[in-house]
Amino acid sequence: MPIGIIDSGVGGLTVMGELLNRMPNEQFLYIGDDARCPYGNRSPEEVVTFTSEMIEALHRFGVKMVVIACNTATAFALKHVQEIYDFPIIGVIEPGARTAVETSKTERIVVLGTTGTVKSEAYDQAIIAMANDAWVHALACPEFVPIVERGVYKLEEADRVVQQTLEVLSDETFDTVILGCTHFPLLAPFIRKHLPEGTQLITSGSATADTVIHILDQKQLQRTKIMDQQSTFYTTGNPDHFKLIVQDWLQCEDPIVKQLVL
Ligand code: DGL
Repeated sequence: MPIGIIDSGVGGLTVMGELLNRMPNEQFLYIGDDARCPYGNRSPEEVVTFTSEMIEALHRFGVKMVVIACNTATAFALKHVQEIYDFPIIGVIEPGARTAVETSKTERIVVLGTTGTVKSEAYDQAIIAMANDAWVHALACPEFVPIVERGVYKLEEADRVVQQTLEVLSDETFDTVILGCTHFPLLAPFIRKHLPEGTQLITSGSATADTVIHILDQKQLQRTKIMDQQSTFYTTGNPDHFKLIVQDWLQCEDPIVKQLVL
């Protein structure tokens, strides 16, 4: 059976890239809810409803586990859906927080996220649970996701928005920054450019892949043979636009992209 991945839009592709590299034998089904993106400004109840709808769709397709490759959905809906389904469901906040705590030498950590993720304080709590003396500053970056969804993440407009948003950090001292939204790795070159030199940028993809591999091993669910089934991408938005971002980010020549109505 395939592994399901969900996000509010194209952001989860940044996690899927890691999963594809580390698990070349696995088949993935990806759902991006681009029609209702961004989730970052929505109420917790809406995020729980939309996340549950995507996981129910994956359940009907048939999956052996699900990765919620969206920080906002992880913050608000992970516990809820874990109680409903009997296949493993994991999020991206714990893996990202763990990597940051392991990486930071000063335990002064900045989290960049959506308004919802920042308000939920999910990263603050996860980091403090692992390093109780850590200093955590979470900064909402509500303008980043629309830039990525529109596909203009390499343009000068993106550079300008990133610079303006990160300006408030100029008086702070920190050595590690978590990209606490899966859309943000697409803006990483600009984010790096506008942070002090030597700052460690943390994405949750690699630590999330470690967790997936561990669960598949434990439950003996990993695929051992390469099969002929290609991964499939579903979007509630425009499949042609979605395809362009898959091709760019995953260097995948002819991905199967379909429209899904939730
Ligand atoms: N990619 C998502 C995240 O990691 C959500 C972005 C959004 O829809 O606001 O938080």
